[in-house]
Amino acid sequence: MQDIPHIPVLYREVVTAFKDITDGIIIDCTMGYGGHSSLLLEENPNIKLIAIDQDQTAIDFSTRRLASFGERVTIKKGRFSEVIKEILNEVKPEDIKGILADIGVSSLQLDQKERGFSYESENLDMRMDKDAPLSATEVVNEYSTKELETLLLEYGELRNYKKIAAEIVKHRPFTSAKELSDALKKDMPRGKKIHPATLLMQAIRIEVNDELGELKRLLSALKEARLPNARVAIISFHSLEDRIVKKEFMAWTKSCICPQEAMRCECGNDHSLGKVLSKKPIMAQDDELHENVRSRSAKMRIFETDIYDE
Ligand SMILES: C[S@@+](CC[C@H](N)C(=O)[O-])C[C@H]1O[C@@H](n2cnc3c(N)ncnc32)[C@H](O)[C@@H]1O
Repeated sequence: MQDIPHIPVLYREVVTAFKDITDGIIIDCTMGYGGHSSLLLEENPNIKLIAIDQDQTAIDFSTRRLASFGERVTIKKGRFSEVIKEILNEVKPEDIKGILADIGVSSLQLDQKERGFSYESENLDMRMDKDAPLSATEVVNEYSTKELETLLLEYGELRNYKKIAAEIVKHRPFTSAKELSDALKKDMPRGKKIHPATLLMQAIRIEVNDELGELKRLLSALKEARLPNARVAIISFHSLEDRIVKKEFMAWTKSCICPQEAMRCECGNDHSLGKVLSKKPIMAQDDELHENVRSRSAKMRIFETDIYDE
């Protein structure tokens, strides 16, 4: 086995989150390099695992890494928002006992310069799925000023989004992330810990891979599925994602879903899907923060469904 290119974040906390699952299926929506998947298979010897990724490099690597678990593992390529629906149609809801999503990019995707995720990359790509139609080249070189402003504000939370969008339009076309970040360096906010171009790269990456849309659709498919007894753990890496998870999990606890202005309950008051197990987001402990810088911004939230449909 070649060196493992990605250290799984919150590895102890993920194992703990699923530790009392003794049978059934756990779905790893973001298999990546199989770190969490292999831990779950080792620690829960009677479960089966369905693992999803949209990146062929990750699929090839983890197919080899997880081969020793034999028929306990099924690997599926595609976007998790779509594949999850296929899985939910194929297996009985009561068999699904756990769902994990460790969203965002892997260390390998960031480190491989040719993938275009880093501000030092020699190209402008950023697709997790190399066959996807939209890459960073189209976003940067073809989006209107207004479209660029919107994504810089919403996905990068950049205060001078108008100026940055105007500079992109003025200096384009760009052929590499390095060229882009060098050209805009002077306009970027200077944080102590992160490179000035990081938020720009984040905004473009979220747009290229529709990352927030994917997360929302995953959560919506899980809500619709009304899994009777499952644990859902989502790890996110920035506040935009964490906000979506926190809000959605809270909404899942609500028993009454009548509009606020309703005079009395007419919805049946039986819509709660279960409870939030993590009152606060779970974050890495000191030793992990020390070993793995990526864990600095990781936040995990856990929900447990508990539904008795007649
Ligand atoms: C942070 S890494 C996961 C690492 C993994 N937990 C491990 O231990 O190796 C995220 C992975 O999820 C994949 N991914 C992100 N969004 C996805 C989506 N919407 N559908 C399918 N795969 C996705 C990426 O390609 C990447 O390989």
